[in-house]
Amino acid sequence: MARRPFVGGNWKMNTDRTSGAALVAALVAGCGDLAEGVEIVVFPPFPYLDLVRRSLGESEISLGGQDLSNDANGALTGEVSAEMLLDSGAQWVLVGHSERRQRMGECDALVADKLLMALESGLSSVLCVGETLEQREAGSSSRVISAQIVSALDHVHPAQFQRVVVAYEPIWAIGTGVVASPQDAADAHAAIRDALTSRYDSALARETRVVYGGSLAPGNAKALFAQPGVDGGLVGGASLKAPDFLSICSAAAFGVAAR
Ligand code: 13P
Repeated sequence: MARRPFVGGNWKMNTDRTSGAALVAALVAGCGDLAEGVEIVVFPPFPYLDLVRRSLGESEISLGGQDLSNDANGALTGEVSAEMLLDSGAQWVLVGHSERRQRMGECDALVADKLLMALESGLSSVLCVGETLEQREAGSSSRVISAQIVSALDHVHPAQFQRVVVAYEPIWAIGTGVVASPQDAADAHAAIRDALTSRYDSALARETRVVYGGSLAPGNAKALFAQPGVDGGLVGGASLKAPDFLSICSAAAFGVAAR
């Protein structure tokens, strides 16, 4: 069965009530029937989840959180639980983003715990993996990505894994304007599917959506999505401009379907 393209908009720590509501209104107005061909999810900052959910209304665009706690509840100042995300209307959550791994010191074990908490609570999850520039230059990209996959999925049952999208986000491409070449992305996505085959089996690896993230823009999305293993994208900066984000969604809907 063909994999349904997926595009996520990771707003990171951007927008406010006014600009967030305007961005969603523009997405809803411009989306048309695009969401029939591509699964679209927006990931606003926590304080705006409810506002964005209400602005999405009956739209086919889904809502996700950018992070979650690995604990269910309790005395954890500043944390946000899976149940709180669900209660706010989110169906998705990002786990293992490199900004959290690098800036907040999230280790592989914590990423694995968060992923399990998300899936056991009923959320779907985008698991982010990717190598640093040093690791790439040392020729260890595939090894690093595979190790991240193996560690994160250690306790994830195959039935739960069906609610996971894997995002390949090379750290050197995030927010830099330097995008991975279509061949780089194809190689990394193949390494991810190899790791999934070792962890589960080739059928599940084939069914899994693996998307690319890192300086995605309307001008480079088409060539990336033409690669057979690239099923869409996780978009940072360009997701803050409705026309750019919709153009990337459209490239995924038509590009992935056409190949
Ligand atoms: P940019 O698209 O801004 O490079 O960010 C990518 C990203 O980190 C998405 O999660």
